[in-house]
Amino acid sequence: MTGGGDCPGLNAVIRAVTKTAIYQYGLEVFGIEDGFMGLVQNRIHPLSANDVSNILTLGGTILGTHNKCDPTRYPVTDSDGNTEFKDVSDRCMDHIKHHELDAIIVIGGDGTMSGAANFVRKGVNCIGVPKTIDNDLEGSDITFGFSTACMVATEALDRIHTTAASHHRAMIVEVMGRNAGWLALHSGVASGSDIILLPEIPYDIDKVCQAVLNRSKHGKRFSILCVSEGTKPKGGELVVDHIDPNSPDPIRLGGVGKVVATDIEKRTGIETRTTVLGHVQRGGTPVPADRVLATEFGHAALQALMQGKENRLIVMQGRTVTDVDLLSAEGKQRIVKLDNPILQAARDVGTSFGD
Ligand code: F6P
Repeated sequence: MTGGGDCPGLNAVIRAVTKTAIYQYGLEVFGIEDGFMGLVQNRIHPLSANDVSNILTLGGTILGTHNKCDPTRYPVTDSDGNTEFKDVSDRCMDHIKHHELDAIIVIGGDGTMSGAANFVRKGVNCIGVPKTIDNDLEGSDITFGFSTACMVATEALDRIHTTAASHHRAMIVEVMGRNAGWLALHSGVASGSDIILLPEIPYDIDKVCQAVLNRSKHGKRFSILCVSEGTKPKGGELVVDHIDPNSPDPIRLGGVGKVVATDIEKRTGIETRTTVLGHVQRGGTPVPADRVLATEFGHAALQALMQGKENRLIVMQGRTVTDVDLLSAEGKQRIVKLDNPILQAARDVGTSFGD
């Protein structure tokens, strides 16, 4: 099952799980469509090795995903058209029993793992495989999807560079990442961005403008800013794009790039433009590093299962793929620590973090 938002590498996990299960252990594998929605609606079908052939390089997920379905609060409409939220977990349990599923490999984020906990309590063995482009899973040094998103953001920043230089502008690229600055930090450093704004370091707009003006003073007539969607000014608030009330994590960030651009233009008189990268960062083919990591994670999930382990989450610690308690990362977020050596390296080559 793949749940929550998609990310590059999901299909590589599905392939690794399915092929290892069939080739090495002669198991039967089923795919559950659209996350928990497929479990509620009994959209569960056998997966053969052939079904997962040629998907290693494919973005998205062949199983589909859903980031809102919670079987404990599922909308049920009666014959009069009235909708009530009901707990339909027992219906899911019937479907699990009907297909004789011994375990579920749940590929998802925080919300999906919390959803899995409900079935763990009912005696279903769930092995979690974490995914996120945000790279913010507590307990794992890296998650698949991150390297691809980083590559997309870096390429965008590189392309912005040439147009910024031609027009002598300040150019902002707003990248995803929610409340963690990994994507902005890595793509910002990789592209040599002049200013990087992270959620972990609230910015001072005077310092940001000063950095832009300093560059002008030294003959650099353009500036590149890599801005994380979760950044905010010192003492200020996050910029929220919208609230998604049915989502386990309802706040959708977006728009801080425009806010920073307006401030820079007003204060410095330098023409400033903003590009919001959005879901481009989540789409398309995974880079080789993500294909490898996703294959390792999928394989490790199957190994954990075959070793008789129950309710474990596959993670990367150092250079080792290992497993931890399924719910050990619940409600926690791995953010950029202020003593991260990449921050100092960037500062020492003249990058401003707006502080
Ligand atoms: O967690 C992954 C992520 O892409 C975040 O970086 C972003 O803030 C959010 O999901 C966007 O969510 P949605 O796809 O629901 O708009």
